[in-house]
Amino acid sequence: MNNVLGYQNQNVVITGAASGMGAAATQLLIDAGANVYALDIGEVTAPATKAFKVNIMDKASIDAAIAELPGNIFGLFNCAGVAHPPTPAYETIMINFVGLRYLTEQLLPRISAGGGVASIASTAGMGWKGNLDFVREFLAQDSFEAASDWLKAGKADSQADAYGFSKQCIIVYTLQMAGELAKQHKRINCIAPSPTESAFMDSLSSAGIGKDVTSLFCPSNGDFATGADMGQALIAINSKLGGFISGCVIPVDYGYCAEVTMGQRDNLMNISI
Ligand SMILES: NC(=O)c1ccc[n+]([C@@H]2O[C@H](COP(=O)([O-])OP(=O)(O)OC[C@H]3O[C@@H](n4cnc5c(N)ncnc54)[C@H](O)[C@@H]3O)[C@@H](O)[C@H]2O)c1
Repeated sequence: MNNVLGYQNQNVVITGAASGMGAAATQLLIDAGANVYALDIGEVTAPATKAFKVNIMDKASIDAAIAELPGNIFGLFNCAGVAHPPTPAYETIMINFVGLRYLTEQLLPRISAGGGVASIASTAGMGWKGNLDFVREFLAQDSFEAASDWLKAGKADSQADAYGFSKQCIIVYTLQMAGELAKQHKRINCIAPSPTESAFMDSLSSAGIGKDVTSLFCPSNGDFATGADMGQALIAINSKLGGFISGCVIPVDYGYCAEVTMGQRDNLMNISI
């Protein structure tokens, strides 16, 4: 089989593998010949090498899976995430960022040279430049416990949008880590998807944020993306073909952030690229 992506017989770890973008990426990785270790709080239906029930905001739950993961990993894909609303602010930031960072840092020593990390941020995090000092203050809480305590102390309550903040954290973390990882010949990137049809979108709708609102952030073709659109982008940047791509936040949005940055669309979230 053609191994142009370089995943054949490689170990990869993916969170959020049960649904949406993560499920699409999982199937693609299986099709590309990878040994897929899938982590999710839900049921993973794709024929992964091994699936683990993990609650990504619970350190002990992450640790239990880590103990059973292989010692050599080519790629980590951080796809798990929740919408806010309906998920409360604290849980949203713990799941979307704090657990993601903890898992990433535990696995980085196992990632092989040439391999890397690909995470899912969001268009909703693309206003990170205007909030950089605050994001950095939170990222300085560099342990799982310190970050949780900081949030429980209400330090992030000033943030109007806990979801957007959690995604700004992924973006800034990605950019911050790139230099250190380059010294180890390891890569780190994230994508910023525009609105995508998935269970996430359904839960947002059930909390009163329907397509009348989310469509404001769709590209000019009016399309909502599919999970596969995002899974494909993740697989591409973390593949052998992306071997010199690191430290990037890549809007996967058919040009939405480009239009906003160029002043061609209303800038509703202080976005720039
Ligand atoms: N759908 C969108 O419009 C959109 C846009 C931008 C970014 N995102 C992000 O994309 C990522 C994937 O979302 P999706 O749209 O595929 O939604 P989804 O709901 O289909 O998938 C999310 C997955 O994360 C898992 N998950 C949730 N909480 C978890 C926990 N505590 N521990 C472990 N796993 C958990 C779910 O079980 C599910 O399998 C998320 O990080 C989301 O924030 C989504």
